[in-house]
This record gives sequence, C-alpha cells and structure tokens, in this order.
Amino acid sequence: MPAQPDRFAGVKYQPPRLPPAEALIRGEGFRAFMDARRSVRAFSPDAVPRTCIDLAVATANTAPSGAHQQPWTFVATCDPGVKHRIRVAAEVEERENYEGGRLPDVWRQALEQLGTSSDKSYLEVVPWIVVVFAQKSTPMPDGTLRKNYYVNESVGIACGLFIASLHTMGLATLTHTPSPMGFLTEILGRPANERPYILFPVGYPAADCEVPDLTRKPLDEALIEVTGRSGTPGSPR
Ligand SMILES: Cc1cc2nc3c(=O)[nH]c(=O)nc-3n(C[C@H](O)[C@H](O)[C@H](O)COP(=O)(O)O)c2cc1C
Repeated sequence: MPAQPDRFAGVKYQPPRLPPAEALIRGEGFRAFMDARRSVRAFSPDAVPRTCIDLAVATANTAPSGAHQQPWTFVATCDPGVKHRIRVAAEVEERENYEGGRLPDVWRQALEQLGTSSDKSYLEVVPWIVVVFAQKSTPMPDGTLRKNYYVNESVGIACGLFIASLHTMGLATLTHTPSPMGFLTEILGRPANERPYILFPVGYPAADCEVPDLTRKPLDEALIEVTGRSGTPGSPR
C-alpha cells in the first residue's frame, strides 16, 4: 500500500458540462440499462475472461470512500477446488438457516417470495467467485494498523460499481450473503483485519435462467423533495 501524503496537492477538475437535453437522454439511457439488471441464481458454466474480472474490480476501485481509505479487498477465484469448498461451507450455513430454524420467521417469509433455498450448487457451476472483504483496519507501511471509518458505506458503494461494471459487460451476478460468512476468511486465507462482506458469483445466466418477476418501487417512494417551506429548519436540500 503506497504511503498517503500528509495532504494531497490540488488538481484541476472540470468534467464536461452537458446541455440539459443531452444530460437527460444519457441519464435515461443509463437508468433503463440499469433497470434491466437482475440478480441471477442459475449460471452457465461458460468461461469468462479474467480481464473482465480485472475491469469490474478496477471500476469498483474508483468508488468514493470515507477519507479515501478504500477499505476493500476483492478476492477472485476460478479454481474448482476452492469453489467446491465455498459451496459446501455455504450450504452448511444455509441449511441451518432454511431447514434448521435459524432464520427468524419474518425473514423466512420475506425470502419465500424469491424462492431461494439452501441449494447453492451454482457456486460450483459459475466460472468465477469474487468475494469482497471489508477492512475494518488497514496495515500501514510502517507496520501499524490504521482504523478505517465509514467502512460499510464505502465498501457498499464499491460493490454497486462492481455490479454495474459486470452488467455493462453483459455478465450476471448475485449479491450473495450466506450467513454467517466467516468460512470465507478461512477458505480464502484472509487476515483478521478483514471481514467477508459479499460473495459475488460471476458468469453468464444459464440458458434456462428465470428470475422473479418483481417490480421496483416508484420514484415518488424513493425520492422526496424537501423545500424550505415544507422542511424543518436545517433539513437537507
Ligand atoms: C445486501 C444484499 C444481500 C443479498 N443476499 C442474498 C442472498 O444471500 N441470497 C440471494 O439469493 N439473494 C440475495 N440478495 C439479492 C436480492 O434478493 C435481490 O437483489 C432482490 O431480490 C432484487 O432483485 P434484483 O437484484 O434482481 O433486482 C441480496 C441482495 C442484497 C442487496
């Protein structure tokens, strides 16, 4: 890890300002493109070049992060033995969740509509598994450990960019959180300052892949505008 300077020098930043009509066309194009992204749970075994994984992680690596601490590590494997160990360990945990009664009833009901189960066989079919680890602290060149801030927020944003990059390349993934995920630390040999955050199988959808026919909530539920008159003093604008 390169040492950070005491203070970054300033560099000029002036991205091109688009005419409003063009901005709207581009924004709508991107929205429609992202709206077509779906989580996939049935993968094709077709190979995906390692360079696609490199590009998706390089894109994730552009994410903003609290104090530019970049508290993420992406660990990728296409090794059949490693994928097998991950599938077996994930299914042990998920059987406890789905069949062993570890999932609270409300959570089980929420999952029922998606039709998910403890069967994670896709983890062995898919060409790549990428596990994102969140660094609660980061080793510094002088051997000390730096505590990181806003780790969840920063790693979550990086994962969003990773997903968008895969989608741009025509690849599919699933935001998979087999709970608890501690087995990934051991199988992938990660240090104690990192904790598994999300497991992403990466590949193409299987030829017979289906996804739940869900809809997204309308914009007026996702976005609320507050004005000076309707908002309380000091509320965000
Ligand atoms: C934080 C997070 C954790 C998730 N964990 C799982 C999971 O463990 N297993 C699974 O099948 N889907 C998981 N999902 C996928 C969601 O079920 C999926 O994103 C949601 O149903 C919406 O579908 P879409 O991604 O196709 O729009 C997770 C999604 C998120 C954001």
